Formats: sequence, structure tokens, C-alpha cells
Amino acid sequence: GMEAMQKAHIRSMEIIPTLNKSKGWHSDMYEYQGFWYDSMLLQGLILAQDLFRAQSSDIFLCSHPKTGTTWLKALTFAIATRTQFDESSSPLLTKMPHDCIPSLELDLLKLLNQRDPETHFLATHFPYSSLPKSIIASGCKIVYVCRDPRDTFVSIWKFAEKILFKHTEPIPVEEAFEMFCQGVSHYGPYWEHVLGFWRASLESPEKILFLKYEELKKDPALYVKKLADFYGRPFSVEEEEKGVIENIVKMCSFENLSNLEVNKTGKHMLDTPFPIENNLFFRKGKVGDWKDCLTDEMAERLSQIVEQKLSGSGLTL
Ligand code: A3P
Repeated sequence: GMEAMQKAHIRSMEIIPTLNKSKGWHSDMYEYQGFWYDSMLLQGLILAQDLFRAQSSDIFLCSHPKTGTTWLKALTFAIATRTQFDESSSPLLTKMPHDCIPSLELDLLKLLNQRDPETHFLATHFPYSSLPKSIIASGCKIVYVCRDPRDTFVSIWKFAEKILFKHTEPIPVEEAFEMFCQGVSHYGPYWEHVLGFWRASLESPEKILFLKYEELKKDPALYVKKLADFYGRPFSVEEEEKGVIENIVKMCSFENLSNLEVNKTGKHMLDTPFPIENNLFFRKGKVGDWKDCLTDEMAERLSQIVEQKLSGSGLTL
């Protein structure tokens, strides 16, 4: 109730001033449990850690920002609701994917107060080691999606230019890039975020499905099948023959989603002080777009950092 909420809030106000602080892209950033956040995000994380109780049937869609969250939400929602809706009746045609699957960050109060018992899929950007304890303790399944760090940086940067710097003075891309390489970015260091879920997926492959954006792009149908299996809702032979998988792939494709009226002109987070145009979640949806934005030198630097940090993990990005 309110009291627990106040307690958690007070706790976050006590913790924040004790943390390492650094200048970020648009505000001060704080290092908490090995990752960086601005104070608003961090308050939300501490609230979620103190108050959120997972149900064992919950399935979490986890990701670092800008690695394919919107797409994963769309695919998941389409897979989960395929017996109720098809590509001509799906809520995905009129609601943006973020409004189909709630997130711990944006929808925490709703999830705490009046959780829809039918909601089994939830999303978050919080790193594995900082997830509210009950998520792991209840044995919830997790899907994680990651992406080429260069494309991830560019995607974040382009998003930030449109949102963050509406209200504050923009910083040069070189400076933003430097902070990203230092790990000082929302939910950063990026490579640590990826590594946390990677290691956990090696330990518990039945609980954690680890995906890459680039592989999804290459063969979306294969991953739609894998996701359905992982969710315990495999496609029947009849469904496969009817082309249900291909229809989901098509409906959730960048081309289709980005051309829907809701995603072209609609807005997200209308009940907050920061509504965001839905179209900002659909920019290009390409692999290798970093080439248009980073110099070879920048790209090489980031690749080297990530390669070194991932060395010995069995993962390459
Ligand atoms: P770009 O900025 O490179 O275009 P997130 O959903 O985690 O915020 O990530 C956003 C990135 O995913 C953006 O990348 C966006 O264009 C891309 N994206 C959104 N919907 C997609 C889809 N249906 N298929 C592929 N990529 C998609």
C-alpha cells in the first residue's frame, strides 16, 4: 500500500546521495549495483526492487534500451494472442507494442495496485543482477534480446536527439560516445548488461532464452517458432500449414508496424509529463546503420572494448 511505497521512496532518497555520481548526456547519473541511471530511473528501480512481487507464471522480456524491445513485444504479443486474433484483428494494429505489454519502469504503479490477472508478459530494461528478487526466486522465464553495440549506440543517440535534447542543450556526439564507452549511460555499461543475461542463460537455458537482433532479422520465422516453444505455446502442424508463423512475422515486421496509423501519428506515455511520439520507436530497423553515423575510428574503439569485455564468455556481439 501507500506506506510501503513511501518507505521505498524514502529508502531511494537515502541511497542516491551515497552513490558514485557522474555527468551524463542530459543529467547527473548514479552508479547503483554496477550500472548507471539518472535519479528518476533509479528511484523506480529501488521501488520495483522493494515492492514488486512476481508470479511464477510471469514471463519477462528483458533488454537494454534500443536493442529490439518493441519488436520482441510485438512478436510475443502476437504469438500469445494468436488464437483470439489474427493479422486483421490484432490489437497490435491499433495499439503500439509498448501499450500491449507493460513494463516495470513505466507501469510499476499499475502493476503494484491493480494488476490485470491476465497479464503474464512484462518487460524491463533493468539488468539481470538488479532484477527484483522474486523474479528469479519464482523461476520466471526470461527472454533477452541484444544487438550490435555500434547499432545500439546509434539508435540510442538518435532517440536521445529527439527526446532528451528537446528540453536540454544537446552535447556533441563524440562526448556522448565517450560516456557510452566508459559505461556511463542509462543501464550501462552495455556489455555488462548483456553479459549478466548471457551468463544466466548459460546456467539456466530452460529459463532464459538469449536472442540477438541480427539473428532475428535474418530468420524471424525461426525465432517466432523458438519463442512459441519457449512460452510453452508451440505451433501446431495445422497452424504451420495455415501460415500462422509467416503472418505473425509479416504483421510484426518493421515495414508493417511503422506504417500503421497508430505508430505514425500516435503518442506513448500520454499520462506522464513526457509523452513520446510512437514513430520514434520505429526509426530504420536496419542492421549496420552505424556506418552512417560513427567514424571508423569510433566504431573500432567500441568494438574493441566490447570484444575485450566479452572475451572468454563464449559470446561475440
Ligand atoms: P534503429 O534506431 O536502429 O532504427 P527498442 O525497441 O529496444 O527501443 O529498439 C528500437 C530499435 O528497434 C530501433 O532501431 C527501431 O527502428 C527498431 N525496431 C522497431 N521495431 C522494429 C521491428 N518491428 N523490426 C525490426 N526493428 C525494429
